[in-house]
Amino acid sequence: LPNPRRQLWTKRDASTTVPIRAKHSHKGSHGKGLVIGGSYHMPGSIAMTARAALRSGIGLLSIATPTTAIPSVAPFLQEATFEPLPEEQGVMMEIDGVDWSKYNGTAIGMGMGREVNASSIFQTLFQHAKGPVLIDADGLYHVKDKLMKYADRPDPVILTPHPGEFAHLIDRSIPEVMQSPFTLTRGFAEKYGVYVVLKGPATIITSPQGDQRVELSGNAGLAKGGSGDVLSGVLLALTLQSKSVFDALANGCMIHGLTAERLTENHHSTTGLLASDLIEGLSETFRTFS
Ligand code: APR
Ligand code: MG
Repeated sequence: LPNPRRQLWTKRDASTTVPIRAKHSHKGSHGKGLVIGGSYHMPGSIAMTARAALRSGIGLLSIATPTTAIPSVAPFLQEATFEPLPEEQGVMMEIDGVDWSKYNGTAIGMGMGREVNASSIFQTLFQHAKGPVLIDADGLYHVKDKLMKYADRPDPVILTPHPGEFAHLIDRSIPEVMQSPFTLTRGFAEKYGVYVVLKGPATIITSPQGDQRVELSGNAGLAKGGSGDVLSGVLLALTLQSKSVFDALANGCMIHGLTAERLTENHHSTTGLLASDLIEGLSETFRTFS
């Protein structure tokens, strides 16, 4: 039976909802994003998130990362600015120095590590951040059991777990998640009032109201460390440029997957495709929607 609250997201849906850059647009109307993550030992993931957000049309982007990680990523991010964070042994300790008035959307978690001072960082984030907050990777680990408190805010909260991360969030096993992905994500999204993007070959996007979209693009070239970090950047950028968060999430997953498909049709193999290739391929995928 067709379920009106469960929809396959198609290219046709995307073609009418992917944001198109107005001829006389101004950088201020494309979002001012902040990405928080990275560590001395894992500087690349937040760099990929940031660069993917830039390649997805965000107006301005800043990167909050431990001070000692900046020199290694700055050369890849000439268009970005930096918020250097105090650190201990290469991981961030606090984000109190961030100038929150400059940003209207935030993504947090990629490469931030498990050893951070999480309670201080997430308390500050949810006290001060304006606009949507997207949480991925290690960030999901840190907000577990605290979502009731954190997610109670007027602006959207978006979680982007893979099945292992989602299993951890709900204290179930991965096989249990894979057996009932629709029911479990819907229950979770409704309970906490958050958007959930459960990633995989079939990605399920759920709204806080429990509506669901399935997005099927992509291929095994994405089954590599880094492609999830790229997705977070695409999703942040599109969320800040779209009227609907739900549309932005479905479209971001589609553009991410279509880019992998196109790159492996022409030049690359699924074996050799890298997350950084994906970032550089985004621009051409956006051409097909303009
Ligand atoms: N077909 C289509 N899409 C895929 C496929 C596939 N076979 N495999 C992966 N993807 C897509 C997912 O839909 C998602 O968008 O690639 C992305 C992978 O995201 P993550 O699982 O978050 O991967 P990433 O964070 O880059 O790397 C895995 O997660 O658990 C940690 O420590 C682990 O470093 C590892 C990291
Ligand atoms: Mg990931």
